[in-house]
Amino acid sequence: MNKQLRKAVIAGNWKMNKTPAQATQLINEIKPLVKDAGCDVVVCVPYIDLQAALAATVGTNVKVGAENCHWEPSGAFTGEISAEMLRSMGVTYVIIGHSERRTYFGDTDLTVKKRLRAAIDNGLTAILCVGEYLEQREQGITAEVIRTQTKIALGGISEKELEKVIIAYEPVWAIGTGKTATAEQANEVNKAIRDLICELYGKAAADKITVQYGGSMNAGNAQELLAQPDVDGGLIGGASLKSADFAAIVAAASK
Ligand code: PGA
Repeated sequence: MNKQLRKAVIAGNWKMNKTPAQATQLINEIKPLVKDAGCDVVVCVPYIDLQAALAATVGTNVKVGAENCHWEPSGAFTGEISAEMLRSMGVTYVIIGHSERRTYFGDTDLTVKKRLRAAIDNGLTAILCVGEYLEQREQGITAEVIRTQTKIALGGISEKELEKVIIAYEPVWAIGTGKTATAEQANEVNKAIRDLICELYGKAAADKITVQYGGSMNAGNAQELLAQPDVDGGLIGGASLKSADFAAIVAAASK
């Protein structure tokens, strides 16, 4: 992390976990543990938990995000939730293009781009996820995959709009598997993302953008990952469901 240049952000990704009552309980546990955080703290929760999460975080430093959004403002899209709907209820963050959405629910680079556009148009801060499959890493094409995913998603996003974009590098083979990328592997790709931003938007934008790492980040390995110069925070799955673990990661990012 280079806190002089950019913001460190620790975001929980709860995935399909917690009822509204459980969400309130977990947030009530997290709040006192992170109240003095020296980084931004976000919890991204299932749609049905958003209302409870917003109510439980009023007046605190914990921000609330959704895990996805549709690109149209409204219409015949059964089961979907729009960025406009999220904004209307006071949500401020949204995860876009998580690998589970890409793998299980048909999200493509082009739909990710449309979702990102909608998030930005509605004033949300987007956590744009990119990452390679194990086969792609083994084939030696990680850099190309990450560049393509990032470049397509950011198509049409201006330098000003980029201020509302966080990029999360999440190697798919490290998500929920307990296999973390080494600190060097994480930094290498995060740096490649920053270099791409420099190419597309210039050095000032590249210095400013928050690039997280995600994939089995936990209380034990967070410090080493976050010590890397280009790892500006984390997107945390499993460990974000335990208040003490999540708080320990926030503490590691606060140093
Ligand atoms: P994990 O998930 O921390 O459980 O690996 C990270 C993510 O999917 O964002």
